[in-house]
Amino acid sequence: GPLEETTIPLFFGWFLLSPVQVKVGCSSMDFLKTLDTLEAFKKNTADFTGQAEKEVDLEQYFEAKGSFHCTTKFCNYGKADGATEYAGNPVVKKSYGSVSELSLTALFVTPRTFGARVCLTEEQLQLWPADTEKESEASIPGSASLPAGSRAHITLGCAEGVEPVQTGLDLLQILTLPEGEVVEEMELGSLRYYGEGRWMLSLREPICAAACFSSYYG
Ligand code: A2P
Repeated sequence: GPLEETTIPLFFGWFLLSPVQVKVGCSSMDFLKTLDTLEAFKKNTADFTGQAEKEVDLEQYFEAKGSFHCTTKFCNYGKADGATEYAGNPVVKKSYGSVSELSLTALFVTPRTFGARVCLTEEQLQLWPADTEKESEASIPGSASLPAGSRAHITLGCAEGVEPVQTGLDLLQILTLPEGEVVEEMELGSLRYYGEGRWMLSLREPICAAACFSSYYG
């Protein structure tokens, strides 16, 4: 009945604990501040502004979208494919409320989104729906062949009018492209350019972020 349907959340995921929210927020802002001052970036701002070599303030360009989390399953209150099965999965139930460490291995920026790539452990992968990377094959050819967990990310910000669901798609798209050339060795790691305003910084030291596996009802 309707009462049972309402028990399925909007989404499940790992929610960063509050001290790490601050840590990730600071590191990611430092990256944006530096990125938009680099010559390599300044030469390629047309994809952000529509005008060649016009300056962009990336800190202003992206707006934060709620608290930081890594979505495992978007359920849309039970309306999404596989939502009921996921919510009823024994591993999901058993893990609910548990805290584990997320490893953030890269930061990426596109004209639409700003995100962090998350590298899942074998244990965390048990909470990752098997068909996630296949669902996007129509819009991002090649994504179905990527390893399970490739889409795992944290949305750090979105450009005006862009929904956070875009962040995972932007990440998958970068991962299907040939690895870009290193354009700059930054303090945090190696920065690569993938064309069309897509940048990815592979972190020298992954950011370790404690997170609670839970769900969001909205
Ligand atoms: P993400 O996980 O990339 O941040 P919204 O506020 O738009 O309803 O989204 C709530 C959360 O669910 C966000 O974290 C968002 O993206 C994620 N999300 C929204 N729609 C989808 C979808 N179709 N597939 C996967 N994740 C989604």
